[in-house]
Amino acid sequence: MKKVWIGTSWKMNKTSAAADAWASAVAPAVKACSESVQPFVIPSFPYIQQVSEQLNDKGVRIGSQNICWQDEGAYTGEVSPIQVKDCGATLVEIGHSERRAMFGETDERVNKKVLASLKHGLTPLVCVGDTHDEKRWGVSAESVIRQVKIALYEVPKEQVADVIIAYEPVWAIGEQGIPATSEEAERVHLAIRNALSAEFGSSISQKMVLLYGGSVNLDNASELLDQANIDGLFVGRTAWNADGYCHLLEIAQSKAN
Ligand code: PGA
Repeated sequence: MKKVWIGTSWKMNKTSAAADAWASAVAPAVKACSESVQPFVIPSFPYIQQVSEQLNDKGVRIGSQNICWQDEGAYTGEVSPIQVKDCGATLVEIGHSERRAMFGETDERVNKKVLASLKHGLTPLVCVGDTHDEKRWGVSAESVIRQVKIALYEVPKEQVADVIIAYEPVWAIGEQGIPATSEEAERVHLAIRNALSAEFGSSISQKMVLLYGGSVNLDNASELLDQANIDGLFVGRTAWNADGYCHLLEIAQSKAN
């Protein structure tokens, strides 16, 4: 049976003391999870190592919020896959809508970063999403599938199933976001799964982990996890507080039992 993935990116939040407090507070809850729940956390770069030292041995996957597609060199301000791996990361978040909207992340760069992650044995977690206008025009699935296909361009077939896709509608993320209903989320997840199946075959598409993110909270998490093509949740605000994250783990655990 597939694991239920429950993770959070802290975005540009927390300092060392807050990171430490969060990791200590969630440690008992992650230890209590069975094999069928996969917790993960994606701190800001400076705290990857610290959080990894606290939580790696408890079965939590640690991630980086971005990487450069190059291994090393004169790329001031960038962080390489080798460096995040050295600090304990095993996951790399790529193409979050905030990076696409504010920092010029293109589909082409997302693809380069996916290939760079795989080259170094890191799991890419690719975020894709439709804008409010795309939703209004009825092209959500087309927009998201296009992003997925470009992200996976030239990924060797045997590595495709190692890539995690997070569907994060731009209109659902953050303070102004309106959470997708579970039906809306499932419709796009199913479209992604079908597109993956058409491209790579049903066995690969079934193995792939598809997460939902965007205003996930303690009220909608359970119903989202009940959807056939939602394999886990990628959460911001609700999980920045350790209690919120622990509750999400409990909800996931109740589905896995
Ligand atoms: P949110 O963020 O849960 O605070 O809406 C989600 C995300 O950006 O991944």
